[in-house]
Amino acid sequence: SYADNFPEHVVLFIHGYPLSSQMWVPQLEGLAGTVWGVAPDLRGCGESGTPGGAVTMTDYAEDCVALLDELGLEDPVVVCGLSMGGYVAFELYRLHPDRVSALVLAATKAGADTDEGKAGRDKNAQIARDEGVEAIASAMIPKMFAPQTVADDPELVAEVREIMTSGSVEGVVGALEAMRDRIDSTPTLATIGVPTLVLHGADDQLMPPAEGEKLKAGIPGAELVLIEGAGHLLNLEQPDLFNDALLDFLSTLP
Ligand code: MLT
Repeated sequence: SYADNFPEHVVLFIHGYPLSSQMWVPQLEGLAGTVWGVAPDLRGCGESGTPGGAVTMTDYAEDCVALLDELGLEDPVVVCGLSMGGYVAFELYRLHPDRVSALVLAATKAGADTDEGKAGRDKNAQIARDEGVEAIASAMIPKMFAPQTVADDPELVAEVREIMTSGSVEGVVGALEAMRDRIDSTPTLATIGVPTLVLHGADDQLMPPAEGEKLKAGIPGAELVLIEGAGHLLNLEQPDLFNDALLDFLSTLP
């Protein structure tokens, strides 16, 4: 019957920077029929137009919840965020814990930006305004992948460049400012009362796996899976390992 075949879990996939929902294609396709994936383009990213003003993590999180409302998904969902998407997931959990049945935190961290990090956001926003999103993509690409991926999978690297360069300057600047001004999520970790899976690429050049270990240590009962042969974009670099870890985790949920 329809009910028997209806996917049991809704997963909200929140993309990283400077990307879009396109980064979740291997999950939406690979898990189709098993999970109901919802992958928004955050405000100003992908197809969602220009942000039309300053953007905060709160805006991103509230936009995601408004989308769930629009889709009639009032019951709690699994929230899966990668990197900046993880920052959004923390904010969504703080604002609406009742909408979250479980968390999947991929290639992300709890801490806020350091002063140096904040200055780097402003510098990158200026580069985006002066030189466009291509300059941002060129600077980011080498840090996004495991060395093995760059050597073995130039097609994937080209695809990611395509996703990055399809974004708008306003969207990139909005994301940089939202990340610069985000609060420290470290105090949130101990308050997380839903099952949590932490995923991290063993070869992440942008965010060391130690960040994933800190999340596991701080979140009660959290599980950590290190994905071998993957850097920062682990869901794209090792889609099968990522999807299997996600499915294993989903199968443990009530
Ligand atoms: C991301 O991958 O979403 C961002 O690079 C994370 C960050 O810059 O803090």
